Amino acid sequence: MDSIIVTGGGPLSGTIPIAGAKNACLTLMPATLLSDEPLTLTNAPRLSDIRTMTQLLESLGAEVARLSDGLVLSMSSHILNGERADYDIVRKMRASILVLGPLLARQGHAVVSLPGGCAIGARPVDLHLKAFEAMGAELDLRDGYVHAKAPAGGLRGGIVDFPFVSVGATENALMAATLARGTTVLKNAAQEPEIVDLAHCLQAMGAQISGEGTDTIEIQGVDRLHGATHRVVTDRIELGTYMLAPLIAGGEVTCIGGKRSLLEAFCVRIEEAGAIVTESAEGLTVRRGNGPIKAVNVETEPFPGFPTDLQAQMMALLCTAEGTSVLEEKIFENRFMHAPELTRMGANIEVQGGHAKVMGVSKLRGAPVMATDLRASVSLILAGLAAEGETTVGRVYHLDRGYEHVVAKLSGVGANIRRVKEDG
Ligand code: EPZ
Repeated sequence: MDSIIVTGGGPLSGTIPIAGAKNACLTLMPATLLSDEPLTLTNAPRLSDIRTMTQLLESLGAEVARLSDGLVLSMSSHILNGERADYDIVRKMRASILVLGPLLARQGHAVVSLPGGCAIGARPVDLHLKAFEAMGAELDLRDGYVHAKAPAGGLRGGIVDFPFVSVGATENALMAATLARGTTVLKNAAQEPEIVDLAHCLQAMGAQISGEGTDTIEIQGVDRLHGATHRVVTDRIELGTYMLAPLIAGGEVTCIGGKRSLLEAFCVRIEEAGAIVTESAEGLTVRRGNGPIKAVNVETEPFPGFPTDLQAQMMALLCTAEGTSVLEEKIFENRFMHAPELTRMGANIEVQGGHAKVMGVSKLRGAPVMATDLRASVSLILAGLAAEGETTVGRVYHLDRGYEHVVAKLSGVGANIRRVKEDG
C-alpha cells in the first residue's frame, strides 16, 4: 500500500483545478440503466470509485467507454444481461446500491447485494427500500441480497415521505420514479447539489421532474427515457478540501471552477474563522485574513448545512486555531477516526460520542499516521502541510477513491508532498 509524505512548509500560492463531483458521478452513471440509448457524461472525475461503478455496470450488461483520458464516460445499456449486483463489487463501494432503482424501473426486477457497513457507520438502506415499496415494489431480503420485483404493469407513482434526509435514498427513488406510472412525490428529499445535478441529467433524458433542490420533488413518470450528454457538476467536497490548504499553510490559492453556491455554509464558517474568500469567473480564491485562524463551532447537517464530508478537513484547520472549537457530527455515528491520528501529531482533541472538542495548539508535529476513510485521509494531509517535519500518511488507497492527483495538485501550489510506493 502506498504512502504519502508531506513535509510542513511555508505559504502556498497558485491555482488548483477542481474535478467533477465523485458523488454526482456515482449516481449519474447508474442513470444509464434507465434508457436503451447512450448517456454521455463529461467532466467525469478519474477515481477508483468511478472504475468500481464501471465494473458494476458492465457486470449488468452496460457498456462504458472511457474517452478523453477518462474525462468522458460514454455509456449504453441497450441490453441488460444481468440483474444481479454481486456482493464482491457492492462491498467495495456502497454507492452500488444506486443501481437498484434504475434496474427496477427499467426491467421490473433486480437482485442487489446489501452494501453492508463501512468505517464511518452501519449505513443501512432501509429508506431506499421504503421508497420502492411506496411505488408498489415487493422486496425480499435474503442471503444478503435485496430481491426486488415491480408490480405487473411496472412501478407506480406514490408518496414517499422520508423520516429523515438521505442523499442516496432520494437519488434511488428519483431515478426509479422517472419511469413509474403516474406521479411520485418525494417529501423531506435531500437538497444536495448532486441531487440537482442528477435531476438535470434525467430531465435532459426526457424525465418530468420539478422541485429538485428543495425538500419536495415531484416526478411525472414517462414511458421511456432517451439518451443525453451531461456535464458532471464541480466537486464541492474537493473544492472545500483545497480551500482549507492556504488557511492551514498560509498563502493564497485559487480553486478553479469553484462556486460559492456549492458550499455557502462552509464558506461562512471559514470566514468566521478568519478566511478571506473571493469569488470570480475563474473560481474561488482563499487566503488568511490578518491575524490568526480563530476557533469556530461546526455542526454537520444535510445541505444547505455544513457538509459532513468536510468535517474531518475542518478539524485539521481547527487543531491550530486560537481557542476551543466544538464539532458536532450529526449525520454519521462514527466519523471522528481522524481525531486520534491528529492527536498523534500533537493536536488536543476530546471526542465524546458525536461531539469533538478541539483545543487549539500553536503547531502540529509531523508523524506517521493512518488513513481510515476517504475524508479522514485527506484531513491528515492537510494537517501535515504546516506541521513541523514529516507526516507519513499510510493506506492512501482510501484517498484514491475520492481525490484525483492530490500530490500534483498540492505540489503545484508549493506544498512539499510526494507519494511513495510501498517498499518490497
Ligand atoms: C452520501 O452517502 C455520500 N456518498 C456521502 O459521501 C455523504 O457523506 C452522505 O451522502 C451525506 O451527505 C455518495 O453520494 C456516494 P445518506 P449516503 O443516505 O447516500 C442514514 C464521501 O465521503 N441512512 O444521506 O449513503 C445513514 O446511515 C461519502 O464521499 C439510513 O439510516 O448518505 C447516515 O447516517 C461518505 N437509512 C444518514 O442516514 C438509509 O436507508 C445519511 O445517509 C439511508 C441512510
